[in-house]
Amino acid sequence: TQDALVVFMPSGKRGRFSIGTPVLQAARKLGVDIDSVCGGRGICGRCQVLVSEGEFMKLGVKSEASHLTAFGEVEKRYAERKGLAEGRRLSCSTRVQGDVVIDVPPDSQVHKQVVRKRAEMRAIELDPVVTLHYVEVAEPNMHDPSGDLQRLEQALASQWDLKGLDTDLRVIQHLQKALRKGDWTATVAVHQKKQITAVWPGFHDRAFGLAVDIGSTTIAGHLCDLATGEVVASSGMMNPQIRFGEDLMSRVSYVMMNPGGDVEMTKAVRGALNELAENVAREAKIEKTNILEVTFVGNPIMHHLLLGIDPTELGGAPFALATDGPITIWASEIDLQVHPNARIFVLPCIAGHVGADTAGVILSESPHMSVEMTLIVDVGTNAEIVLGNRDRLLAASSPTGPAFEGAQISGGQRAAPGAIERVRIDPETLEPKFKVIGSDKWSNEPGFFEETALIGVTGICGSGIIEALAEMYLAGIINQDGVIDGGMAAKSPRIQPEGRTFSYLLREGEPTIRITQTDVRAIQLAKAALYAGARLLMDKLGIDKLDRITLAGAFGSHIDVKYAMILGMIPDCDLSKVTSAGNAAGTGARIALLNLKARDEIARVVKQVEKVETAVEPMFQQHFVEAMAIPHKTAPYENLAK
Ligand code: FES
Repeated sequence: TQDALVVFMPSGKRGRFSIGTPVLQAARKLGVDIDSVCGGRGICGRCQVLVSEGEFMKLGVKSEASHLTAFGEVEKRYAERKGLAEGRRLSCSTRVQGDVVIDVPPDSQVHKQVVRKRAEMRAIELDPVVTLHYVEVAEPNMHDPSGDLQRLEQALASQWDLKGLDTDLRVIQHLQKALRKGDWTATVAVHQKKQITAVWPGFHDRAFGLAVDIGSTTIAGHLCDLATGEVVASSGMMNPQIRFGEDLMSRVSYVMMNPGGDVEMTKAVRGALNELAENVAREAKIEKTNILEVTFVGNPIMHHLLLGIDPTELGGAPFALATDGPITIWASEIDLQVHPNARIFVLPCIAGHVGADTAGVILSESPHMSVEMTLIVDVGTNAEIVLGNRDRLLAASSPTGPAFEGAQISGGQRAAPGAIERVRIDPETLEPKFKVIGSDKWSNEPGFFEETALIGVTGICGSGIIEALAEMYLAGIINQDGVIDGGMAAKSPRIQPEGRTFSYLLREGEPTIRITQTDVRAIQLAKAALYAGARLLMDKLGIDKLDRITLAGAFGSHIDVKYAMILGMIPDCDLSKVTSAGNAAGTGARIALLNLKARDEIARVVKQVEKVETAVEPMFQQHFVEAMAIPHKTAPYENLAK
């Protein structure tokens, strides 16, 4: 028989096939990555290819559509129903007619790359956790007494080469209805290539996943299309556990003081997750039952409460986790109303203070794959700190307290519209100007934001207080020890006595916002803890220079890195190498949702991370004391001078 050379791009895989071979079959033989849900029946449209020119032109061989068979009935039907873009063909319904170069566009590849938002972010490659398989199942008859499940398994084996799958009772309970409703055709969802998790009648190609970051203050979720990896809807909400305690430790105390308090909090967070699932499904206009996979990250206490594990042990030394491994369970086990057989993957916690959120940050920032010595800080009530590179990775948490979130600061508040987030102080006149969240203008006139942006100034948030302090330091209002200089009162009426200390009047009117000596102390304590934690890890690694610093978390993405360095919150580093990663923990949850291999990877990396307990390290105290000074008692900040 006559044969033809078939080349697939971009992989460059090639082989000779006899004329008339279906293109998809040739691709499968060569191991070319082409998607399919319908198994080559011309229904799903996932297998589209283009006839490309390219190298064959150079060789003088013209590749045109004529090198594939003309549109057959199946393709015509598909094109009429769903449309087929110019030049596109269904590889399952097209046959080789002569030498040809075939282009597999990214959207037809199973292992496609998901678009990156930031250049330095890790590229997310799809490695589907859930795959969909359309099958035609043999009908039962009097001569073949086999069960419906066994005939479904036969169909999966012969039509998809999927063998030895597990099937849970909850799937079997719905199987017979589904097969009959679909007139002996069905679409099967297979989890991790080993377990049947759903069976729909007929053809079904909607599969979604939800990646959730449970913070102690807010819960954020991204709904992703599992076939494309795209985020199709996002939603955030307050963590309803706040009513049991603002910060983590007060929630653990609540459990200790109220028997059954853990159950209440578990119920509260699960209720919120159902609401979140509801919200994203509505926004994306899909049925909740199309959510087949959910991943979670969160600090250890959020992790335990989600899973219904009493967090009491995390409230005191030695801070033992119930488990530091990843967890895979059914959605119903945590009362999550998505697809009844959806699978849940909870990323592993690293240590009693360093949670699955940090595991998510590691996945997203991937220090373990880099040669660069990277410091990652996730600033919240506790700062979770990771330091290292592909050779070694260390993690610790540092007790910064909630000052960076605006708590325990006289005019402090959470980052929300109306909060002062940026501050500048004129070094000559000591007059301030500031910006509030919700407006892009600078002012310090009473009533300005109300008139221009209809926003009342309500307080000052973490990034605002950082900038206020750094600007006060640059203007000489506070000295290296953090003392507000009363001598400056002669220079500006904004420096005002307050008992035996002084404060700086940032904003007049209602509410009056001052930076008091106590506020300065609170930030000094927090920043000293953060710095000391990072420094301790640097000691452990025996390094005194960093290649890169990444600030993760909502606070990290809000703060101006220059000011963080002026205050000495972080060690010295080339400013262009200090970046914020936004919600890196959430990105990690999304990676684990879309990439099966990443789940093993993070489990492995977490095991290798060396955990450092700051509380028992004598050097921590010494670093802490030295780091109280602004920016630091002894450490040089060479990069600031540049
Ligand atoms: Fe489904 Fe080709 S494989 S249309």
